[in-house]
Amino acid sequence: MAKVVCPGSFDPVTNGHLDIIERAARLFDEVVVAVLVNENKRGLFSIEERLQMLDQATEHLPNVSTGSFKGLLVDFCTDNGIAAIVKGLRAVTDFDYELQMAQMNGSLTDVDTMFIPTTPEYSFLASSLVKEVAKHGGDVSGLVPGFVLERLAEKYA
Ligand code: PNS
Repeated sequence: MAKVVCPGSFDPVTNGHLDIIERAARLFDEVVVAVLVNENKRGLFSIEERLQMLDQATEHLPNVSTGSFKGLLVDFCTDNGIAAIVKGLRAVTDFDYELQMAQMNGSLTDVDTMFIPTTPEYSFLASSLVKEVAKHGGDVSGLVPGFVLERLAEKYA
């Protein structure tokens, strides 16, 4: 049984994240979407809100579950019997940092990292940009699920 994790901040989940999660769910038996609890960074959405949106966005995927973690991702993997980390690569600019993290994680444990190239239509997409555009009244429909659009509108009302 191959169990993998899709980690991230997911503040909030975007269609780019869902592209990677859906493709991981087709490739692996079990996918855990894990939200980092970062005590040094206050997000727009609380961890509970992010998890609730992720649950809603992945409810059509029976082999996907959600959770949160503090500290090292590799410890979360070891504690939960997770063999590999799955990350999306949007562009070559992601690669340097992602490779560095993959190699550091690999040096700490035998947890491996697998990269899935982002579908080109989402290659520019990032939660931070979605928030910036939404904050200033720009149209982010098509970039996030409809219910996330509503939550963004509520936050920036
Ligand atoms: O969505 P993000 O913010 O790009 O996700 C980054 C994340 C959460 C995957 C990364 O920061 C992470 O794994 N943090 C956990 C702390 C950790 O394990 N650090 C060592 C990595 S080498």
